[in-house]
Amino acid sequence: MKSLRQSNKSRFVVGNWKMNLSVAASRELAQQLTKCAPKNDNCTIAIAPSYPALPICCEVTQASHICVGAQNLCQFEPGAYTGEVSAQMLLELGCCFAIVGHSERRQLYRESNEICGARAKMSLQSGLDTIFCVGETVLQRQENQTTAVLKAQLEPLIELLKDPQFRARTLIAYEPVWAIGTGLTASTSQIAEAHNMIRQYCGADIPILYGGSVNPSNFTAILEIDNVSGGLIGGASLDITKFTELINS
Ligand code: PGA
Repeated sequence: MKSLRQSNKSRFVVGNWKMNLSVAASRELAQQLTKCAPKNDNCTIAIAPSYPALPICCEVTQASHICVGAQNLCQFEPGAYTGEVSAQMLLELGCCFAIVGHSERRQLYRESNEICGARAKMSLQSGLDTIFCVGETVLQRQENQTTAVLKAQLEPLIELLKDPQFRARTLIAYEPVWAIGTGLTASTSQIAEAHNMIRQYCGADIPILYGGSVNPSNFTAILEIDNVSGGLIGGASLDITKFTELINS
C-alpha cells in the first residue's frame, strides 16, 4: 500500500477536490497527473477526489507515484449508517489516507471536535494515513481565540498521538476558515504563529500542512515559513497546469 508519510519525503502537495469535477473529469485529471506531475524525491503528491470518483482515480494512479485518499470517513464499523462510508470500503478501493475534520465538515455538517476525534481514531486504527484539519473562523481570530480554538480542535488528536503507530500516520493541516476558497491567504506571520503553536503542542515529527487559497504564486513563499511541510489545496488543485506548478514550487 502507498503511504503519505514516506520517511524520505518531507514535502506534501495534497489536492482536495471537494464536491467538484464529474467522475469522468476526475479520472482525466488523475490520469494527467500520473503523466505530468514531476516525480520529486522530496515531495509526496496526493489527491482526495469525491467518493464516486475514488475507484477510478485509485485505478488510474495505481502504478504511479500519486497517492489517493478520501475527504472524510465514518467513525463507526460498517453497519446501519445511511449515507456514510467506512474505512474498510476506502481501503478496499486502494485509498491510503483520509482527510478528517475539514472546516466544511465542522461548519456545514456540525462535525464536533469529538466526532472529528472519533473519525481520526477510526482512520488511524484502520491503517489509513490521516490528515487532521484545524482552523479558526474570522470571528474567533478577531476575538483572540485562535490558540484556544486550535488547542480544543487538536485535543482529541493528542490522545491518539500517544500511540507511536498512529503518530507515524498523522499529518495536520492548518486551514484558517476565513482563507478557504476566499482568495485571502493568511500572512506569513499568522501562518508561522499557528504552525509554531501546533508544533509545540503536537511534537516535532508531525508534518503540518497549510491550506487556504494556496496557488502557484503564493506557495513558494508559504513553503519557506518555519514548520510548513506542504499544502492542502482546493481550488488550484482542480487545474492540471496549476497543480503541476504547485508541485514544482
Ligand atoms: P482552497 O481550499 O485552496 O480552495 O482555499 C483549501 C481547502 O479547503 O482544503
